[in-house]
Amino acid sequence: MTRVGVLGGSGTVGRVVVERLAGWEIGPLRVGGRDRDRAAEACEAASGVPAEPFRVDLDDDAALRDFCTGCDIVVNCAGPSYRVLDRVARAALAGGAHYVDAAGDLVAIDALTGGGATGLDHLGLDRRAAVFSAGLMPGLSGLLPRLLAADGPLARLDVYVGGAAAIGPLSAVDALLTRGPRFGTALAAWRAGRIVPGALRPLRSVALPGFRDRVHAWPFLSTEMSRLAAELGVGELRNYTVYVTEAIPEALARAWADDEAALDEHVPAVVTAADTDLAATGPYYAMLFQAVPRDPAPGRPRRVLLRTPDSYALSGAVAALTARELSAGAIPPGAHLACDVLSPSRTLAAMRGDPLVTGVELT
Ligand SMILES: NC(=O)c1ccc[n+]([C@@H]2O[C@H](COP(=O)([O-])OP(=O)(O)OC[C@H]3O[C@@H](n4cnc5c(N)ncnc54)[C@H](OP(=O)(O)O)[C@@H]3O)[C@@H](O)[C@H]2O)c1
Repeated sequence: MTRVGVLGGSGTVGRVVVERLAGWEIGPLRVGGRDRDRAAEACEAASGVPAEPFRVDLDDDAALRDFCTGCDIVVNCAGPSYRVLDRVARAALAGGAHYVDAAGDLVAIDALTGGGATGLDHLGLDRRAAVFSAGLMPGLSGLLPRLLAADGPLARLDVYVGGAAAIGPLSAVDALLTRGPRFGTALAAWRAGRIVPGALRPLRSVALPGFRDRVHAWPFLSTEMSRLAAELGVGELRNYTVYVTEAIPEALARAWADDEAALDEHVPAVVTAADTDLAATGPYYAMLFQAVPRDPAPGRPRRVLLRTPDSYALSGAVAALTARELSAGAIPPGAHLACDVLSPSRTLAAMRGDPLVTGVELT
């Protein structure tokens, strides 16, 4: 029996975590949020295991502690992630639970560990794992390219991730906060072991495998990708975020040109821009990784392509999968990014069998 607390289990991402865990008969489940009725609704979808709704505001220390008490694993799907940082992770670990975050990244890990990998026994990280970035991007985006480098280093890796999806206000805040050197560098490429600023230009109106019609691809070398390039020894890596119209990059650019204190005022514009994209093509999302191996031996895979109609829901499936790996004892103690501790091949197999995935190619 593994008791799992899903904080934000009534949200877009969290509901899928609840459904998947219940479907795998991992539970009992505790579903948390500020609105207990919404949490109770999410519990109704959890047939197969007992599920209890729990009223909790993550900003309330005592309520968060009560939520985590008795859980073996806490999965966080509440946000905005760049404001949550390590707050829920600390409460989960203090309560003796493992931790999974559908978002969060190195910034959250640094907040938790103070940037060090040792001397963290007081957090419980000698016995428990805290796994961040267990979603699509970050998450699968840092994991799936490893399938292309399994048989040797890559001379070049091109990454295109995006599509059209509704963005809720909470995720819009995360999108607006994703800037600055700790997150990535716009227009940069990775070349010969270093970040080269200003190396790339936006690709406007291009046709890409797996994407509908013509799309716009904006270069953004995320920290996840430069870390991956360094680790795999990729000669050149180009990472693009793909949009079906230019509405979202324009809304983000307007916000980032404004006073940082006024960032929240730009949330409605980002939400509306995402709706514009959705109206243009309907919901779809693709992750395309194209590699040129250094040693072009025949039979080496050169492309991974994954398609889903719902990137948010599929992030929930990845977070649930991470919790399943934890409950199976497949993840060692410590603070990790999901891409470092999930198995690329097992994850790919799980994605092939997931009802939210409409296509996976490894060719
Ligand atoms: N890695 C990826 O690829 C990826 C993809 C999509 C989303 N995400 C991230 O996942 C997170 C969730 O996104 P979403 O679209 O699912 O958001 P959402 O639909 O707005 O759901 C948010 C959930 O968190 C709960 N919540 C919000 N504030 C809370 C608080 N102060 N205390 C306790 N619970 C709280 C909400 O319930 P109440 O309102 O009842 O409290 C709800 O259950 C975001 O941080 C987003 O950036 C990551």
